Amino acid sequence: MPHLKEPKVSRKIIIERMRPEDLDQILQLEKTSFTDPWPRKGFEIQLRDGSSIMLAARLEAAAALGGEIVGYLCAYHLLEELQLASVAVREEFRRRGVAQKLIEEMIRQGRRQGAREVWLDVRESNNAARRLYEKLGFQEVYRRKNYYRRPKEDALVMFRPADEAARPSVAHNLGRAVGG
Ligand SMILES: CC(C)(COP(=O)(O)OP(=O)(O)OC[C@H]1O[C@@H](n2cnc3c(N)ncnc32)[C@H](O)[C@@H]1OP(=O)(O)O)[C@@H](O)C(=O)NCCC(=O)NCCS
Repeated sequence: MPHLKEPKVSRKIIIERMRPEDLDQILQLEKTSFTDPWPRKGFEIQLRDGSSIMLAARLEAAAALGGEIVGYLCAYHLLEELQLASVAVREEFRRRGVAQKLIEEMIRQGRRQGAREVWLDVRESNNAARRLYEKLGFQEVYRRKNYYRRPKEDALVMFRPADEAARPSVAHNLGRAVGG
């Protein structure tokens, strides 16, 4: 049965660190969001890895109980580079700024941990994600031919500096309220 769309008011969404007990919900979202999902083991390894940034977006009312996840993000450091590995938001919570908020928090944490550059790969056909990244100041740098499988497709490699000062045009987007 299709999910009913949640009302845009009343449900506040918070961003916090992902917990091992979130993995059942996150794997569910991963499977519905990607044709080639990460296995549980991949998430477990990243959760244990001190150089990873693993974030969960959850409904505030349920946060204290480790409750309902509406989105997540995984990223890792490669020296001074921060690599965004994955971000997904439950369909009925999309277009409310959840992914934007997750990425902004990732960049904030990455910067604090010494990142100077942020990199990501995106499927060429993934227009929603490309618009999201462009809004946040990422620019296409080059293409990896046939990088993805299921279906085979090119990846666009996108980049932005981690430092907000290098990117004044999107500063006004930061701090936008989420979920109402
Ligand atoms: C891509 C995805 C993460 C976006 O999540 P979201 O929470 O809906 O995104 P946001 O609400 O933060 O969107 C911020 C901006 O991105 C752009 N954007 C997001 N979704 C868009 C869409 N479907 N079409 C056009 N632009 C879109 C818009 O500029 C939007 O700002 P606006 O709503 O003020 O116009 C979500 O669609 C998703 O989970 N997709 C499946 C998984 C995926 O493809 N992940 C990315 C690859 S790793």
